[in-house]
Amino acid sequence: MKVGIVGAGFVGSTAAFAMVTTGAASEIVLVDANAALAKSQAQDIAHAIPFTHAVAVHAGPYAALEGAGVVVLSAGVGQKPGETRLDLLERNARVFAEVIPAVLAAAPDAVLLVATNPVDVMTQIATRISGLPPHRVIGSGTVLDTARFRALLGARLGVTPKSVHAHVVGEHGDSEVLLWSGATVAGVPVYRAAAQLGRPLTAEDRTAIDEGVRRAAYHIIAGKGHTAFGIGGGLARLVAAIAGDEKLVTTCALLNELVVGVPDVVLSLPRVIGARGVIDTILPDFAPDEEAALRHSAAILKEAADGVEQ
Ligand code: 2OP
Repeated sequence: MKVGIVGAGFVGSTAAFAMVTTGAASEIVLVDANAALAKSQAQDIAHAIPFTHAVAVHAGPYAALEGAGVVVLSAGVGQKPGETRLDLLERNARVFAEVIPAVLAAAPDAVLLVATNPVDVMTQIATRISGLPPHRVIGSGTVLDTARFRALLGARLGVTPKSVHAHVVGEHGDSEVLLWSGATVAGVPVYRAAAQLGRPLTAEDRTAIDEGVRRAAYHIIAGKGHTAFGIGGGLARLVAAIAGDEKLVTTCALLNELVVGVPDVVLSLPRVIGARGVIDTILPDFAPDEEAALRHSAAILKEAADGVEQ
């Protein structure tokens, strides 16, 4: 599948590199307002092809997106130390007002995969500007937070994160909700699995993991100025699921008509992903505190989205 990436900064270029290393795409086109940056990123990534997969990687103008099955939107500014994701909203909304019509003029049939922060509200804006059916406008949402939750749980339990099933729903941000009640290893609830593995989970462990997931981006940005590898891997995984019509179940963001009593809000839930985007949504069995936390998260996102100029 031909994949477009608009925004060739840290996130877009790392996503492209992850797609090359995993073979998620057959062709990648990088587009950026800074054409020299897009060209250099494409060249650098193309030099890894002899070591990885036979993917055609090049830079170009919007017109070069013609025929793309997916376009990743990673244009805009990222968080600086001390900023929240929601702080970026007004600036990045203006970027999307220019980018999305140009993308759709070249690639009217593409699935849009939004990565720009604050990703949930930016997905809502992209859905509104594009006029596309919501299932074709996917936000990376908590695909990364779910990966972080699994990674921290796996490390604590001494098993690979690939064998930990656990999800983060709601905002990709401060109000996100870690679903401890549904977390399992080998189908066994995570607390019982941890005890069987001789590594019982204490209340302190739970707080540390919760904070480790929720605050991960802040810690990483404090140390290196941005995050890229985790989200790059997540975007490549979503693109592979679309390219391969996989019916992969993963958390990601989408416009929900109604969720936990809140109408018309973009947030993450477990979704089934295939060639045309999101095929279905699976509503987890929430514990009462998880459902209340998700309602709180939905209300924050709805207020942020409603506050953006229409
Ligand atoms: C992340 O969570 C900053 O949203 C980005 O890594």
